[in-house]
Amino acid sequence: MAKPKTLFYCQNCGTSYSKWQGKCTSCNQWETIVEEIIARETTQSLWRDKKSKQAKAIRIDEINDENNAPRYETSSYEFNRVLGGGIVAGSVILVGGEPGVGKSTLLLQVALTMPIKTLYISGEESEHQIKMRADRVRKNKQSNCLVFTETNTQKIFSQIKSIQPQLVIVDSIQTMYSETIEASSGSISQIRQCASEWIDYSKKSNTPVMLIGHITKEGNIAGPKIMEHMVDVVLQFEGDRNHLFRTLRAYKNRFGSTAELGLYEMAQGGLREISNPSQVLISKHENLLNGTAISSIVEGIRPFMIEVQALVSVAIYGTPQRSSTGFNVKRLHMLLAVLEKRVGFKLATKDIFLNITGGITVNDPAIDLAVIMAILSSNENINIGSHFCFAGEVGLSGEIRSVPKIDQRVNEAEKLGFKNIFLSKYNNISTTPKKINIQQVSNIEEAVKFLY
Ligand code: TYD
Ligand code: MG
Repeated sequence: MAKPKTLFYCQNCGTSYSKWQGKCTSCNQWETIVEEIIARETTQSLWRDKKSKQAKAIRIDEINDENNAPRYETSSYEFNRVLGGGIVAGSVILVGGEPGVGKSTLLLQVALTMPIKTLYISGEESEHQIKMRADRVRKNKQSNCLVFTETNTQKIFSQIKSIQPQLVIVDSIQTMYSETIEASSGSISQIRQCASEWIDYSKKSNTPVMLIGHITKEGNIAGPKIMEHMVDVVLQFEGDRNHLFRTLRAYKNRFGSTAELGLYEMAQGGLREISNPSQVLISKHENLLNGTAISSIVEGIRPFMIEVQALVSVAIYGTPQRSSTGFNVKRLHMLLAVLEKRVGFKLATKDIFLNITGGITVNDPAIDLAVIMAILSSNENINIGSHFCFAGEVGLSGEIRSVPKIDQRVNEAEKLGFKNIFLSKYNNISTTPKKINIQQVSNIEEAVKFLY
């Protein structure tokens, strides 16, 4: 018998090697390279008809776009928005996230409310467990959802052939197992094989497929990462498990923007959409505490207000600590350097902790100004006051740079009852709000003067 063909894969980044070695030269991790058997056979896809049509090139204008089915809208407004308007027929969507963040709950809620025939395949939970979860999260008992607990892709495809679903959800790609490969489920070669079988199925049958993939905090479990270039849409479901809020973002979307942010709250009855984020993300105190500043940010098309909290204290131990949740720590270092150099605040010997409320990660650079104000407010023990908010990017020379969608930011702040908003001098504002006072500043010094 011929020796089975094997390759060595790094379990961290997915790089393949022909020989074993102690350290992966691609990601510099030790002891991550594992041998996997890849005895590939040529098997006919089970869900397809035996006589598949002959492959040939075709003129672009001759492509039949009639059955280019429309998008299937889900019942979740947030989910549709992040996808760019619903699920596109024949697309493969990867939903990644840490274990326990709520991926199964999110997709089961989608499956239960779809008007089309939906097949929910689980390799992780029993039928009984899925039923229990479904009863917990659903409101109406009517549903087109079918459940199949199986991990063998060949068995799944023969089942799919008989029930012909219009949407397939796979929970999770790490539990899937294809007989064409001898490696164990969850290994790199098995994930790659199963993913390509699902993509092949989706494209040939024009059925959308949603794959769940587990990712650790560093995002470097190789499995889902190596699939990112193969699928059409990569969604990331994030959130601190100890917080209520969850965010859904598109990292790649062949059919829409990647700027949208979906917000959810994990409650007793499953995930609830947050349609008015500003109201839940800022505290209701009349007087804000020292070290708190509010920013008007825009994620995708939606503006909302968010609270930045900073704590500055004298470092007791040798090296001062800098820690940040929800805000890039490198950017925090940059802002601190700007504060030292341009405004002369001595922060080098201080511990600085920064927190964006709600456990939400903010990518909008317009939050910079609020970050700086929160830090100074804590350092100087000055209260900013709850009627002020900020929107401006801070540049390396201390200038406050303009940010896009400024009118939306101003309107949102006005709607929530703020009396003053600080913006860059270089922003042109076309609206003339009545209830909010606009203060335009050109650099940090000007903004800081306001504190005193
Ligand atoms: P789950 O969807 O199982 O996470 P994942 O599939 O990403 O691993 O969600 C698990 C968490 O969600 C669990 O810790 C409990 C919580 N949860 C609720 O708080 N309320 C609910 O109604 C449900 C179904 C789950
Ligand atoms: Mg799960």
